[in-house]
Amino acid sequence: MELTGAAALVTGAGSGLGAATARALAQAGAQVVGMDLNATGLDHAILGDVASETDVTAALDAASALGPLRLVVNCAGIAPAARVVGRNGAHDLALFERALRVNLLGTFNVLRLAAARMQALDATQPDGERGLVVNTASIAAEDGQVGQCAYAASKAGVIGLTLPAARELARSGIRVVTIAPGLFETPMLSGLPEAAQAAIRALPPFPARLGRPEEFAAMVLAICANPLLNGTTLRLDSALRLPP
Ligand SMILES: NC(=O)c1ccc[n+]([C@@H]2O[C@H](COP(=O)([O-])OP(=O)(O)OC[C@H]3O[C@@H](n4cnc5c(N)ncnc54)[C@H](O)[C@@H]3O)[C@@H](O)[C@H]2O)c1
Repeated sequence: MELTGAAALVTGAGSGLGAATARALAQAGAQVVGMDLNATGLDHAILGDVASETDVTAALDAASALGPLRLVVNCAGIAPAARVVGRNGAHDLALFERALRVNLLGTFNVLRLAAARMQALDATQPDGERGLVVNTASIAAEDGQVGQCAYAASKAGVIGLTLPAARELARSGIRVVTIAPGLFETPMLSGLPEAAQAAIRALPPFPARLGRPEEFAAMVLAICANPLLNGTTLRLDSALRLPP
């Protein structure tokens, strides 16, 4: 996919993986709109909730005003932790619902509204590609840890919708690809207690360090560049399998 002159929407662009992706796409020549609940440092920033049809429509309008909207990257997400049965009793159902709402419903909301617009774009050569949606799951979808039921379920849902969406949108030349990151150096991780952070940093086999947000962004660019990547989830995890 040619990024020069194309418009892109990145959700969760106010922080971490989304911020790095928005920067990298802009450097690669795309016109980028970043959407987040919090203000972002981007030239084109839209405040909004990925689970809101109105907010996502406004963000897509803003992106479409800058050029043909060929790329959407879903990075917005939350990672609440709670046990099935914790010290205060059973898992808060509202917390479970919130994780699904932001991570799964929010991702699907952006995908469906973006795909509806991409279908109307001119096809690009040589393959007739019209657009690309990149989602962000997590390796916790496959190796979720204690306390991650809500998070892991929401991310497994994102992985689950990737293939049926790619199959359906194939006739319109729209690809759907999901990245399942391992552990990355972002505010999501630095919000954890110091002891938990130290334990986490020791986990990746090789390279034996946390991923850098720029390395996630580089994966997004690689997916843009390779049209055969479609309908799949790519683990980006330094051979890490999360322990229980
Ligand atoms: N950091 C990691 O190690 C890691 C690992 C696996 C998966 N992920 C996933 O990668 C994505 C990005 O994570 P990150 O580490 O950059 O986190 P982050 O907390 O640094 O950034 C997430 C951004 O999403 C925004 N956001 C949250 N809810 C939103 C909503 N409803 N609408 C719009 N924006 C919203 C936040 O305001 C924040 O700016 C998330 O989906 C996360 O689950 C991260």
